[in-house]
Amino acid sequence: MLAIELIDVKKYFPLRGRDKDGEKRIVRALDGVSLSIEKGKIHAIIGETGSGKTTVARIITGLTEPTSGSVKIDGKPLYSASGKINLEVRKSIQMVFQDPYSSFNPKFTIARSVSEPLRLHHIKFDMETISSALERVNLTPPEDFMARLPHELSGGQKQRAAFARAIIINPSIIVADEPVSMLDASIRANVLKLIRELNRNSSTTFILISHDISMALMISDNLTVIYLGKIKEQGSRDQIRNNPLHPYSQLLFETVPTLDSGGIPDVTYADIDASVRVHGCSFADRCKFAKSICFETDPELKEVEQGHLVACHLY
Ligand SMILES: Nc1ncnc2c1ncn2[C@@H]1O[C@H](COP(=O)(O)OP(=O)(O)O)[C@@H](O)[C@H]1O
Ligand code: SF4
Ligand SMILES: [Mg+2]
Repeated sequence: MLAIELIDVKKYFPLRGRDKDGEKRIVRALDGVSLSIEKGKIHAIIGETGSGKTTVARIITGLTEPTSGSVKIDGKPLYSASGKINLEVRKSIQMVFQDPYSSFNPKFTIARSVSEPLRLHHIKFDMETISSALERVNLTPPEDFMARLPHELSGGQKQRAAFARAIIINPSIIVADEPVSMLDASIRANVLKLIRELNRNSSTTFILISHDISMALMISDNLTVIYLGKIKEQGSRDQIRNNPLHPYSQLLFETVPTLDSGGIPDVTYADIDASVRVHGCSFADRCKFAKSICFETDPELKEVEQGHLVACHLY
């Protein structure tokens, strides 16, 4: 069963001005992404800054409307033909953002913030509902946290509270965009463990967005590697870990910082510019294996072994 299905999703952002050919400048944040995400799994989406990860997250959660293509959640279209969002379908998805420091209203207590999705969807609740959500993310005893303001929590505790807010309406899908990248190295592993627990205990599907492939490999079942708005490789954790095929995936492995290295820099410091029109493979100018066809024809994503897909002329 599929939790999420994207079919040929494009998201273009218009920019001011024209390019050297006189064409209007646009950013191709997503340029034909087709992706199937199985129910109950942790699916990581990996790539450097600017590759389109947040745009995927925002489209799946209904925060950004795609330019074209279709998005299905549990088999139902998230957007109507006219682009209107289906709120009933939207209700089954929650998002956890990168920055635990700005994701709470500083004036609201944790109890108030955590219960926000229930208010939004007019679902009746009591203090027990909030306390049980806090318990599930190990903010215990919950009464110690309910009346606190966000600044009275550490970064890790705030991110746990963000997960409590996400799970409180029992969503079938949680999209977590770089959920640990702003946390201290020492607490990252704990938050990842929490994601694993929530996934195992409630069979919630998780989309874990990260620029850190090693971190994603720690907890995800399946991975998608994305670069300049296109999927480059996709497969199970073992397939990607044991046999990364795409030169870009291999590069991510070579340059990734470890979990306990201080701070997580963007893996290769590439200057990704999605506003430049690329002919052929978008990775060609950085690829040590590039051959002439790579600069002419964009490789299709194809299955090289069961469940393992790669877009590269080498295969
Ligand atoms: N609202 C926007 N307007 C213009 N360009 C945008 C907008 N949102 C994202 N982009 C561009 O789209 C590309 C992909 O961005 P994003 O999805 O945030 O990537 P990632 O999360 O992988 O860093 C980038 O080039 C970014 O600058
Ligand atoms: S298609 Fe060519 S340029 Fe692109 S990753 Fe493969 S070998 Fe490298
Ligand atoms: Mg992002």
